[in-house]
Amino acid sequence: MQSIALIGFMGTGKSTVGKALAEALGYPLIDLDTEIVRTAGMAIDDIFARQGEAVFRQIEHQVLLKWAMTENIVLATGGGVIKQEENRAVLREHCYCIGLLARPEVIAQRVSQDSAVRPLLSDLAVGESLEQRINSLLEPRLPYYRQADLLIDTSNKKIEEIIAEICCQLSR
Ligand code: S3P
Repeated sequence: MQSIALIGFMGTGKSTVGKALAEALGYPLIDLDTEIVRTAGMAIDDIFARQGEAVFRQIEHQVLLKWAMTENIVLATGGGVIKQEENRAVLREHCYCIGLLARPEVIAQRVSQDSAVRPLLSDLAVGESLEQRINSLLEPRLPYYRQADLLIDTSNKKIEEIIAEICCQLSR
């Protein structure tokens, strides 16, 4: 089967769902952020701080290209992978895409512990709340997440329900 890519904003559950789905299907889980860290030899927040987002996005594209065409894997992508049209084209052509959604307040709660190491959430302006930042990043991306082959809102769902829903769709 073509690779199964999980797309969605930070905190929508890509890593958690990816791990459980990979186990359920008996496929390896490839986490694009982990692959980017391996390729760059430094943490994501260091890539952003030292080399900037543009360099991060170039590495992200290369790593996506490397893995998108591999069959029988679960690919957990980073939340911004859909920002580039080249990436959207690769995902459309080669992957079965599962889009994970969650309400902004749920996302804020999930990422609040580690927002300091998330470069796009760690530089809030004076008076800007985490939820406001999430909303302003999320809104322009939503139409792209919604282009997925299967969409799941993880806000109120247990992991077992999510995996059952995905497996049910995959077996059709
Ligand atoms: C990003 C999401 C992060 C990571 C990087 C940029 C984004 O991945 O790739 O910080 O642009 O939304 P996760 O969605 O896995 O946290």
